[in-house]
Amino acid sequence: MLYIPHEKLSLQWSADNQSLALSLPWVSMDIDIEEADKGWVQDAIDHLHISPSNQNVQKLIHNLKDYPVFYIQPRQIEAFEELDLQLPPPIVVDTSTPTRLIGTFECPLSEEMKSDMIPTWTWDWEAILSKARIPGTDLYDPLSLISYLICYRLEWENTTWSGQDGFGKALISLVQENETKFFQAIGWVAKQSWYVTKTFHTAATPALVHFNKAHELIHHFMCDEVGHYKFMEQVFDDLNLNRDDFPIESQTRWTLSAFKKAAASSPLLFSAMINLFEAAYYEGQDPISRAIRLSSKPHAAQGYDLHYKINQEHRHCDMPLHLAAYLAPQTYDHATLTLGIFELTLNFLDRLEERRMKA
Ligand SMILES: [Fe+2]
Repeated sequence: MLYIPHEKLSLQWSADNQSLALSLPWVSMDIDIEEADKGWVQDAIDHLHISPSNQNVQKLIHNLKDYPVFYIQPRQIEAFEELDLQLPPPIVVDTSTPTRLIGTFECPLSEEMKSDMIPTWTWDWEAILSKARIPGTDLYDPLSLISYLICYRLEWENTTWSGQDGFGKALISLVQENETKFFQAIGWVAKQSWYVTKTFHTAATPALVHFNKAHELIHHFMCDEVGHYKFMEQVFDDLNLNRDDFPIESQTRWTLSAFKKAAASSPLLFSAMINLFEAAYYEGQDPISRAIRLSSKPHAAQGYDLHYKINQEHRHCDMPLHLAAYLAPQTYDHATLTLGIFELTLNFLDRLEERRMKA
């Protein structure tokens, strides 16, 4: 397996030559480099984009693999032959427009969601597909597709309200201006998370049969998630809020219905969608917890902290790629279904959050 540093990854030595500044449109950090490592690290920087197969580039990216800074080079078709992999099942979807995809994937939208529907695709699908195409075939490497899609999502989110941490920032200003409204906003978002965690198990269950090559891993992950809605119930209790006072939005229900549909019909989409429920990587603290800590009821952050800690310690952000390792080469239909559902879901959720917080 060969890592390809994302084409926008930049690495610069600090002025004192002691650390390396890593930057991408969606993540930046400083990495301390020991004296003894400087030689090979410099070699990696020199070859970063011109020859990714250089062993020092591979070593450097391997050290950074907890962060979304790379994708995986498509393997040769022969590399799949010896493996016992899940084949993509036959599927009939028309991904030519968002409306046709919704119609043929049979996951209908509520009336209010229809007004948020994007008229045409805006993501550069060809750019993503070209990173995943298996040489000499019209098939796609699932590891390449999902690893590049995760970076693409993060890059796109940089241009959106929620991706620029609009939600987190709106919470921080609310907690300072109007605490009653702030707790109502927390109740609203906790209700969405409550529904997601409560429904996750049922929605994922079809994958145990339809993605049986990864049965053990999926079962393990489902057990890891089971009961997590209790963290959200703790948040309601700590804030003295009644869970029933908050709606489950149709966008939240739709996302779980689409996930259930994926569990039964597209192991590739199922694997990729787990990225929508988990953080892409971990930065020490949950952003909602950070806002609650600024309120007069900081102990209510605990439910969020405990949940975050489990996701972080069990590396739930790596699940999409762990699952993709069980997949055979993918057809165009499964690849574009995955891109389409990702683009749609992220647009729906972005608009939903923005509307709620600007209300
Ligand atoms: Fe999780």
